[in-house]
Amino acid sequence: MDEPRGRLTKDGIRLHEPADFAGMHKAGQVAAVILDRVAALVEPGTTTEALDDFIREEVAHLGAESATIGYRGYQHASCISVNHVVCHGIPGAKVLKDGDILNIDVTVIVDGWYGDTSRMYVAGSLPRKAERLIQITHDALFKGIEAVRPGNTFGDIGHAIQSYVEGHRMSVVRDFCGHGLGRVFHAPPNVLHYGRPGSGPRLEEGMFFTIEPMVNLGRPETKVLADDWTAVTRDKSLSAQFEHSVGVTADGCELFTLSPAGKFHPTW
Ligand code: MF3
Ligand code: CO
Ligand code: CO
Repeated sequence: MDEPRGRLTKDGIRLHEPADFAGMHKAGQVAAVILDRVAALVEPGTTTEALDDFIREEVAHLGAESATIGYRGYQHASCISVNHVVCHGIPGAKVLKDGDILNIDVTVIVDGWYGDTSRMYVAGSLPRKAERLIQITHDALFKGIEAVRPGNTFGDIGHAIQSYVEGHRMSVVRDFCGHGLGRVFHAPPNVLHYGRPGSGPRLEEGMFFTIEPMVNLGRPETKVLADDWTAVTRDKSLSAQFEHSVGVTADGCELFTLSPAGKFHPTW
């Protein structure tokens, strides 16, 4: 592994140097471009494996490396989570049908830096209930992002997300969280998508982490299937997720994984 840079806070959170933002931007943009490009392939009749094959090729074409292939035995270039799958769906022979919604999550390594991002897509036409879930989940992520600035805490991020989601009578998944990243995939802290204002570690310039809320139309509980990866809602309700990798700046944050094409909506 490469030499770590910067120093650690008392909570073990790495404070990166200003020069490190460029590396994260480059990695984040590669992941975002791949999510832009895969959109054209998402349609009824396609398998999730075909989407993953395309992503694997794009990672190579863009001169990057997949962070997920070989990670704890995982063998795919993406996680693809359809309908009531909350996260870590394994690409396979599953054929998409009209109205299925799916999250595609890609993590790449470029020059040693990690870019981790996910978005929602739809096969065919977007059912109205699913559209509402997807919009609220996207907006919840940005409520969290708006709370990212030095002096605020991680609890402020979680609270912003939770209060927005629950205000729309949907639920925030507790069993999975965002994470620090940089020259490693998963580092401290756990970035919870719920919480109390002012709780948790204080945000400081140079922290790099993901925010990746999972929101369910029904109850928040999840279970992991026998494959040891696929997490589903216990009540089989629809689930959605968006993820950005961000870096804390002097007065807010930089989004490393914004779509260069301005794409985030499943029908764009
Ligand atoms: N990209 C996921 C995250 O947001 C992690 C996927 S790990 C895998 O943290 F092994 F399932 F790919
Ligand atoms: Co992540
Ligand atoms: Co991810």
